[in-house]
Amino acid sequence: MFQNASVKRVYVETYGCQMNVSDGELMEGILAARGYEIVGNPEEADVVLVNTCAIREHAERRVLGRVSQLNGLKRENPDLVIGITGCMAQRMGDDLLEKAPFVDLVMGPDSYRSLPQAIGGLDNKPRERKQLAVLALQSEENYQGLEQRRSEGPSAWLPIQRGCNHRCTFCIVPYVRGPEKNRSPEDILKEVRGLVKDGVSEVTLLGQTVNSYSLEDVDFPDLLRQVARVPGIRRVRFTSPHPIDVTPRLVEVMAIEDAVCEQLHLPAQSGNNRTLRRMLRRYTVEQLLEKIEMVREAIPDIALSTDIIVAFPGETEEEFRDTLRLMHRVRFDDAFTYKYSLREGTPATRLPEEDFISFGEAQTRLEELIDVSRGIRAEINQDEVGRIEEVLIEKHGRHKGQLLGRTRRNKVVVFDGDPALVGEYRRVQLERTTGATFIGTEIPGSVAAVRA
Ligand code: SAH
Ligand code: F3S
Repeated sequence: MFQNASVKRVYVETYGCQMNVSDGELMEGILAARGYEIVGNPEEADVVLVNTCAIREHAERRVLGRVSQLNGLKRENPDLVIGITGCMAQRMGDDLLEKAPFVDLVMGPDSYRSLPQAIGGLDNKPRERKQLAVLALQSEENYQGLEQRRSEGPSAWLPIQRGCNHRCTFCIVPYVRGPEKNRSPEDILKEVRGLVKDGVSEVTLLGQTVNSYSLEDVDFPDLLRQVARVPGIRRVRFTSPHPIDVTPRLVEVMAIEDAVCEQLHLPAQSGNNRTLRRMLRRYTVEQLLEKIEMVREAIPDIALSTDIIVAFPGETEEEFRDTLRLMHRVRFDDAFTYKYSLREGTPATRLPEEDFISFGEAQTRLEELIDVSRGIRAEINQDEVGRIEEVLIEKHGRHKGQLLGRTRRNKVVVFDGDPALVGEYRRVQLERTTGATFIGTEIPGSVAAVRA
C-alpha cells in the first residue's frame, strides 16, 4: 500500500488509571488531528510515547523496564523517537532524561496540547537531536475543545476534572497533576451528545475527586443529573468520588436518575481514625460509615468498592486490625488493596524513620487484607447467583463463542452468545461465580430499548 513518507506513525502505550487511559486517547486525538497516523504496535511506529503512572514505586519500575526494552527497537531504527509522558515524566523530569539518554522527550500531563510541536521540533538526524523536557504545570489547562480518539464501542471514559486540591499525605497526584481544574458543563454535555451519535450509551465521568466538581453554578449532582438525562445515555458511572463530597443531594440524584448505575467506588484507605487523620483524609470512620448507610438506604441494591492502603508509616498492628474490622462491617463488593509506597516529595516521607514498616510486615498485612476482602466478595457474589441482570456486552471472552460484559453493578459476566452482540445489552441469568466473576446464560427476550 502507498505510504505517505511525510506522515509520521505514532504508537501510544498507556500505564495506570482510567484518567491516564483517557489521556492516552487525548494524545492520540491531538496527533491524529495533525495528520499523524496512530498505529497498534511499536515496531510500526516512528514515534513511541509511553504514558506513565507514578502512584507507586512498582508502577514506575515497570515503566523503566519497558523503556529499556524500547531502546532495543531504537538500536534497530535509530530514527525512532521515544517520548515519556504522564505522571512519572512529570515527577522525574530531567532525571529521567539523564537515566535514559535514549529518551528524546519527557512531557507532563498538562502539556499535551504542545505534543505535535514538541515532536515536530525534534531533529530528524538522531545524532543532532537534543533531549526535550516539557514539564510546566498549567493551572488553566483542561483540554477544552480537543477531541479524544476513542476506540469504537458502547462505553466511553469522560474526563470532567483534572488535578486534585487535596493533600493526602501519601499521594503524589497533586504534585504531578496540579490543582483541580474542571471542564465547563456545556462542553461536557456537548461531548456526551456527540458520543451518543457515535454509538456510546455508557459513560464514566472521571476526576481525581470527581464529586467535588463545580463550575458556573453547576455542581456534581447537577452535572450527573444532566448527563444521565441526555437522550441515548443508558448508563452513567463516575470515579473516584471522595467520601467528604458524598452528599444527600448526590445520593438523591443517584437514586432517582435511572441511568446512574447502582455502583459506587468509595476509597476508604483505612479503617482507623488516627491513620485517617495522619493521611489527611478529612473524614473519620464514623463519618464514612454514615455516608455508606445513607447510600445504602437510598439505593439498597448498590455495589460498593473501595481502595485500601496497608502499612502507612506508623500504622500499628491494632490499627491495621481496625481496617479489617471496617471490611467486615461494610462488606465491600470489591476492594483494591495496596502496600504503602513511599513517594518522594509527599508529606508522609517526613514521618520519623522508625515509623516506616518493613516490606515483610507490610506484605503480611496486605495478604491478610486480600484474604478477607476476597472472602467477602465471594460470599456476596455467591448470594447473587440466580439473579437476572442486564449486561452490556463489551468484548469476546477468552474462550471461543464466549462474550464478556458488565452488569449495572459493575460485575463481570461471561456467557456464550453470538459474537455480533458486542456493544449490545442482553438479559443474563447468573449461573455460578468464580468468586470474582460470574458465568451466566442469556435469557431470550427483549431488553428495554434505549430511551430516545
Ligand atoms: N482520587 C484518586 C486516587 C488516585 S490513586 C482516584 O481517582 O482514584 C488510587 C489509589 O491508589 C488511592 O485511592 C490509594 O488507595 C492508592 N495510593 C495512592 N498513593 C499511594 C501510595 N503512595 N502508596 C500506596 N497506595 C497509594
Ligand atoms: Fe490523591 Fe487524596 Fe487527591 S488520594 S488524588 S491527594 S484525594
